[in-house]
Amino acid sequence: MTSPDPTDDHLVIEPSVLYVGTPVLLLSTVNDDGTPNLAPASSHWALERMLVLGLETDGQTARNLGERPELTVNFPSGDRWEAVERLAAVTGRDPVPDAKAAQYAFEPAKFDRAGLTPQASDLIAPPRVRECPLQFEAVVRRMTPGVAAGYLMVEAEVVRVHALPEVVVSGTDHIDPHAWRPLIYSFRHYFDRGPSLGWTRKSPTPGHPSPAEAPVPPEIERWASFGGTWEVAELAAGSATVRLCRCDSGEEVSRITSSEPGFVAWAALQEAR
Ligand SMILES: Cc1cc2nc3c(=O)[nH]c(=O)nc-3n(C[C@H](O)[C@H](O)[C@H](O)COP(=O)(O)O)c2cc1C
Repeated sequence: MTSPDPTDDHLVIEPSVLYVGTPVLLLSTVNDDGTPNLAPASSHWALERMLVLGLETDGQTARNLGERPELTVNFPSGDRWEAVERLAAVTGRDPVPDAKAAQYAFEPAKFDRAGLTPQASDLIAPPRVRECPLQFEAVVRRMTPGVAAGYLMVEAEVVRVHALPEVVVSGTDHIDPHAWRPLIYSFRHYFDRGPSLGWTRKSPTPGHPSPAEAPVPPEIERWASFGGTWEVAELAAGSATVRLCRCDSGEEVSRITSSEPGFVAWAALQEAR
């Protein structure tokens, strides 16, 4: 162990939770009697088509998934936080497990309780939540007990994605990050997300506020109008370099480096294509 660094301006603290800030999910599963359950959650991450969820073992959601491995994962936007909160002190589990009895009550009609509307899924039995702009249908591929008792890691494959047109870049399969405003759960408070700050070079939707706003820069358009070709040579945070080439041989004639946001957005869009 090293001795404390006198120049370190951080405090050492013991926070009661480490919920740094993730979007809220509403998980719908099917109960034994065929009715839907609905539960708020936030512990999750996604890689490609797989979602990994952190679920308490004593909830009705985990119990349902053990029996019927299908769920919808619905993402409310910020303005729905009160509907989510109406589900915060209820469980679909009857009787309520002892560990939860002091803080939770049994609620068989979670959709009604939240004031939300079930909407039939395409491929699986659990319904979606109509009011959520983004909805996934998913099938559980594996459930693994956590290292500590009390939670499970649920790996679920997303088999269908539904999105309202207003959060999709028109004519594409991309969610428009400028239009999409997830409800964020951070240290047990609800937040809307803040303004856009930038984008990563692999973004399929570079530009601001949308790719449609990244028109071909005039210097590239002029080069192309003479029959020249071009390619993006370098893309870094806030700057792009484009190689201008002869149309016949492909030989490089010159380069343009620019930090003009429209130019960088356009170059990023070419890279993403
Ligand atoms: C905003 C929010 C986020 C939550 N995140 C999780 C979570 O990630 N995993 C979990 O198991 N429970 C989470 N909970 C608690 C569950 O919603 C709660 O245990 C509920 O009883 C589950 O319902 P069920 O028993 O009907 O499945 C969260 C609750 C709220 C309000």
